[in-house]
Amino acid sequence: VDAVKASGLRGRGGAGFPTGIKWQTVLDTASDEKFIVCNADEGDSGTFADRMLIEGDPFCLIEGMAIAAHAVGAGHGYVYIRSEYPFAIRTMERAIALAVSKIAPFTLEVRVGAGAYVCGEETALLESIEGKRGQVRAKPPLPAISGLFGKPTVINNVLSLAAVPYILAQGAEAYAAVGFGKSRGTMPIQLAGNIRNGGLFEVGFGITLSELVNDIGGGTASGRPVRAVQVGGPLGAYIPPSQFDLPFDYESFAAAGGLIGHAGITVFDDSVDMAKMARFAMEFCAIESCGKCTPCRIGSTRGVELIDRISAGGRSRDMVEGLPQMRNAAQSARSKTDEIELLRDLCETMKHGSLCALGGFTPYPVLSALDHFPEDFGLADG
Ligand SMILES: Cc1cc2nc3c(=O)[nH]c(=O)nc-3n(C[C@H](O)[C@H](O)[C@H](O)COP(=O)(O)O)c2cc1C
Ligand code: SF4
Repeated sequence: VDAVKASGLRGRGGAGFPTGIKWQTVLDTASDEKFIVCNADEGDSGTFADRMLIEGDPFCLIEGMAIAAHAVGAGHGYVYIRSEYPFAIRTMERAIALAVSKIAPFTLEVRVGAGAYVCGEETALLESIEGKRGQVRAKPPLPAISGLFGKPTVINNVLSLAAVPYILAQGAEAYAAVGFGKSRGTMPIQLAGNIRNGGLFEVGFGITLSELVNDIGGGTASGRPVRAVQVGGPLGAYIPPSQFDLPFDYESFAAAGGLIGHAGITVFDDSVDMAKMARFAMEFCAIESCGKCTPCRIGSTRGVELIDRISAGGRSRDMVEGLPQMRNAAQSARSKTDEIELLRDLCETMKHGSLCALGGFTPYPVLSALDHFPEDFGLADG
């Protein structure tokens, strides 16, 4: 646990929480039973690093989980893999069968998801393993204190756990020697979307977006200019080329109103309609919402309606007459500027009032599209 803390390793699933501190909490929580859970739900758009690791070197993950189990005193572990990864599921099952005698008394099994994005959220994932509907749990208690079946549980992303064998073999210092600021080690960055050289590139934190997209990625596959990249999956901000000197690390992206998430970068050329992308973000949230809290469950649907009205140029008489709740004359007079103010207000409510990051981060793609590409919303100068 001390070695993992000293390495500076932060969770690669999205939140970037220090892995060693999580393990310390599980270690310090007395219980007759503890669990290690590996999050291989990998739902972010354009990401495939977990799949490549599992398919290419499953023993690295098993070793990381066995070390975690030994460190915190856990007896059993689960690898929760998304159903869309049949080869990874088979590979993992076979590797576990081969490793059984090497990792004993620790035991390990694979659980397969059922296609819900929200089941990548750690508490919904635990509900799913318990055989329940994948709905987010309120925190506290943290899973490290009361997780799977109410027992202290380490839940980490594939890449976080797979970094541990290196940390123990080479030393925490060797791991911490690479990186940028508080983001230590390397990150397998996944370049996807409209990009000439798509793929997975493992680099130290601190590389700029320009180096990633233009130098490594070689620009768009279509040959047209890059207009935006979305970093961090469907909840990540859209970033324009004017901000491509941003270093790839947790703090720099947070300061710029974004997130690095699971390090997926999806590239778009100048034919993209950013109002449509903002609508897609809200619609995705509406479809994938677990339904537990109001800002996300209701807000995302209201958000889709708002963006539709903004794209249609404000409320037309027909639209207003089609909506019984909008027949009020004062409401029908609302201008496009008013609708945008309402959308911003809704985003603030979702950001601060949602129980988990699905509802809480959906405003990032929506507001970044609005802020950087106001012309796509029919606003001349923003
Ligand atoms: C909607 C949603 C989806 C998520 N999907 C994933 C996922 O697919 N894989 C993952 O590792 N973490 C995902 N997370 C983050 C997890 O909740 C959690 O932070 C992570 O598994 C902790 O492991 P780490 O500290 O090693 O990153 C998701 C979070 C949210 C809110
Ligand atoms: S934000 Fe959405 S997904 Fe998260 S708990 Fe609330 S309803 Fe569920």
